[in-house]
Amino acid sequence: MSRNGKERLGFVCLRCGYAAGKWLGRCPECGEWDSMAERKQPDRRCSPEDHEPALPLIHASRPTLSRLVTGIGELDRVLGGGIVPGSVVLVGGDPGIGKSTLILQLLSALAADNRRVLYVTGEESAEQIRMRADRLAIGQEQIFLATENRVEAIAAMAGEVKPALLAVDSIQTMYTGEIASAPGGVTQVRESAARLLALAKGSGLPVILIGHVTKDGAIAGPRVLEHMVDTVLYFEGDRGQVFRILRTVKNRFGSTNEIGVFEMKESGLTEVDNPSALFLAERPVNVPGSVVLPSIEGTRPILVEVQALVSPSSLGTARRTAIGADHQRLALLTAVLEKKIGVSLYDHDIFLNIVGGIRIDEPALDLGVVVALLSSLYEKPVAADTVVCGEIGLAGEVRAIGQMDLRLREAERLGFTTFLMPDSNRKRVEKKSAPHMRVIGIQTVQELVETIFHP
Ligand code: TYD
Ligand code: MG
Repeated sequence: MSRNGKERLGFVCLRCGYAAGKWLGRCPECGEWDSMAERKQPDRRCSPEDHEPALPLIHASRPTLSRLVTGIGELDRVLGGGIVPGSVVLVGGDPGIGKSTLILQLLSALAADNRRVLYVTGEESAEQIRMRADRLAIGQEQIFLATENRVEAIAAMAGEVKPALLAVDSIQTMYTGEIASAPGGVTQVRESAARLLALAKGSGLPVILIGHVTKDGAIAGPRVLEHMVDTVLYFEGDRGQVFRILRTVKNRFGSTNEIGVFEMKESGLTEVDNPSALFLAERPVNVPGSVVLPSIEGTRPILVEVQALVSPSSLGTARRTAIGADHQRLALLTAVLEKKIGVSLYDHDIFLNIVGGIRIDEPALDLGVVVALLSSLYEKPVAADTVVCGEIGLAGEVRAIGQMDLRLREAERLGFTTFLMPDSNRKRVEKKSAPHMRVIGIQTVQELVETIFHP
């Protein structure tokens, strides 16, 4: 018997299962360091008799999801139609991108609907929040504000205020007394989030957590934060530009990759209902190196401009820069062009940019990249009424992509008249999607070059 009266069950190596009577620093069996864990008395809650029976799925009760609709359309869209009771939403983004502004506007929209909301900040003073609220012309009685960073105090406060929504700005500044480590550390961030999660699940109160993002894109602190919460939204965009894109990275209650587009103005964020028109607003016409691509973000088609600049390199090694697109993909496509078209790009600097600060990760971008590169290299502009999209394989074949009818419709809506797409897609698109569009099917990169540039 040990000192606390419990029977000692010994230790077991978590790697190989070797059992020992006492703790060992290194497992004698597999040689792993610090892998021995003490065996516990079986927990009575884990006993096999104590369980609910499995039931046919059709007998499971349907959830009553009465979502909290914010009324800000672009925000409701990325949330999958509003905020689900008891859910935890993590909003990540670089410092200064507009997270606090977005959340304050969200709270204000709910308060305008006569719902009480609670905003807790560990980052700024009440005066600073007041200044921002004045700038945004927000002044509802129903917004409660607290500067606090202890999660236990926040839970108590939520009990008193009984808000419809709690927003915590930011999770990196929060801190729980149960862990003896400094705020901002990995353990503190995770434990504080766990407490707030328990609060949400226990009371049905939806919680929004704001989080900072590190340079490599992960929400600072543990990656595990993303696994814990129900929904992860990223607020992105170029700080020098006015567009801001709110993107669903994870959503247990809706589809992912959905985006909401906003414009940052003097008096806060405004919704952009017609992003295609906005992204194409400043497009240069009849200039080499620019082409329009109908992309799909979540469930929504968005037309974007792909720009490339290809110029002879003056340095020993040619430069490759891709903004808003994948570097590796650019490298792959230039290799395909060198091999299949016979152009020499190794001695050229290449700059690629998706205009407007948006990031495109779908393979449909390939055709846009290749056309923009060649257009710049040949100094031949692409006709202004033409759009292209499709994936390119290593053999130079043009491969089918998804949701072509949606892309067609959006291109026609914005007045484009010629659409170059993979030939296998062309066979399947419906004429009624875009009755006035001239659809051209392409099978290989060589054929693409023939069709567009007639070299
Ligand atoms: P903020 O919401 O504080 O960013 P975050 O919480 O992500 O760090 O917003 C920061 C920027 O937004 C700041 O540089 C000023 C700008 N801004 C506007 O342009 N208009 C506005 O109405 C507000 C409130 C901020
Ligand atoms: Mg902030």
